[in-house]
Amino acid sequence: MDLKDELNDHKTFWKIMQPYRQAIKVMKMKLESIDDELKCENGYSPIHNIQSRIKSPESIMDKLQRKQYPLERQSLEKLNDIAGLRVICHYINDIQYISQLLIMHDDIILVKKMNYIDYPKDTGCRSLHLVLEVPVYLKSGKMKLPVEIQMRTIAMDFWASLEHEILYKNKDQVSQDICEELQQCASRMALTDLQMQKIYQKVHKKDG
Ligand code: GTP
Ligand code: MG
Repeated sequence: MDLKDELNDHKTFWKIMQPYRQAIKVMKMKLESIDDELKCENGYSPIHNIQSRIKSPESIMDKLQRKQYPLERQSLEKLNDIAGLRVICHYINDIQYISQLLIMHDDIILVKKMNYIDYPKDTGCRSLHLVLEVPVYLKSGKMKLPVEIQMRTIAMDFWASLEHEILYKNKDQVSQDICEELQQCASRMALTDLQMQKIYQKVHKKDG
């Protein structure tokens, strides 16, 4: 069976993805533990919610073709985002803090960090992306798998969700004016994020 057929066969796909599902669980548990500890300490939970997904067969095939990797099982090892988590935080400062605490875990390896918060994408997209390797224990032994974590505030997620929905399948045909309007919205969201954080700090008498 070639890779496309394997991925499109529901049972085979489920089996190939088993270690990745495990990697998501390990990472989710780590994030929930960090959130719980901070909640116990400060009475405030920095994580609004955690979403996770396994990349779909179509999206895996698209990416392999786009990157011109051979369409075979081994190429899956070259993709960092088969297992993906999205962590939505309340305030901008929470993102750096949680990511620092996570990277401190000594069973995790930081493979890649893309800071689209301090350096937003041309589109206006803001998000902190980490690729982390986590250990997964299988019958055959231990293996390390990459997990992509996208960390953003509620405001950054609001923008990214709607921008994706507006431009989905139309990305190439959209006018410069629309792109600029979307960038303006992203900048406004970023200002609101800062203001909300300042309000929180004033009300709770925190520095920073
Ligand atoms: P992919 O091949 O899509 O994984 O992109 P990449 O490997 O170049 O990584 P990058 O960090 O640029 O983007 C990863 C993911 O971030 C995307 O799949 C989207 O989910 C999200 N993302 C990046 N840029 C944008 C953007 O301009 N708008 C929205 N809505 N999401 C974005
Ligand atoms: Mg991706």
